Amino acid sequence: MLPPIVILASGSGSNLQSIIDHVNGGQVKAKIMAVISDNPDAKALERAQAAGIESVLVRQSDYPSREKWEFDLIKKISKYKPALVVLAGFMRILGERFVTHFDKRIMNIHPSLLPAYRGLNTHQRVIDAGETEHGATVHFVTSKLDNGPIILQKRVKVRPEDNAEKLARRVLEQEHIIYPEAIRQFLEGHISFENPTCR
Ligand code: GAR
Repeated sequence: MLPPIVILASGSGSNLQSIIDHVNGGQVKAKIMAVISDNPDAKALERAQAAGIESVLVRQSDYPSREKWEFDLIKKISKYKPALVVLAGFMRILGERFVTHFDKRIMNIHPSLLPAYRGLNTHQRVIDAGETEHGATVHFVTSKLDNGPIILQKRVKVRPEDNAEKLARRVLEQEHIIYPEAIRQFLEGHISFENPTCR
């Protein structure tokens, strides 16, 4: 049986698409049980539907509190008994309860060379700081934002003519390579929260 995974995405879902393509191509041996979004306009939901994957909307504004939203999100994901929860551009902060529930089985991708440039607008901040190198990081999730054991990183050179959009595009290209690879290595048992570094 293929290990079940659940993917959470808020936006365009290009990382989601790359994971779908790697699963369909047989490079990542997994079954994507569902794509869950907090954003009704997320293109990620369309991508899931186009690929025949169950898509679920769990909008925070439909709940009386953040805690109740998170509680229901946990419940909805748990139904699929995922071996791994994949955050692919999921732009909500997940609390202690979520992280504890899916203990050591949550991955995230972040558009910077962590621990540098946690948070938002990483590409512009990198340009403003005059950095010559930027990149992307796949890591296990802890309750601290953009923290947790680093699995895989890919460096990208910052060019003098770069703006945030151009740089983001080149970083995304690398994200689409390293995220499926990290997922593959986890599901094949080569890495874990305690031994996170990809070979
Ligand atoms: C990606 O660049 C991802 O690294 C970033 O959002 C983008 C989503 O793009 N994630 C974060 O900033 C999380 N802190 P996508 O929807 O096209 O995959």
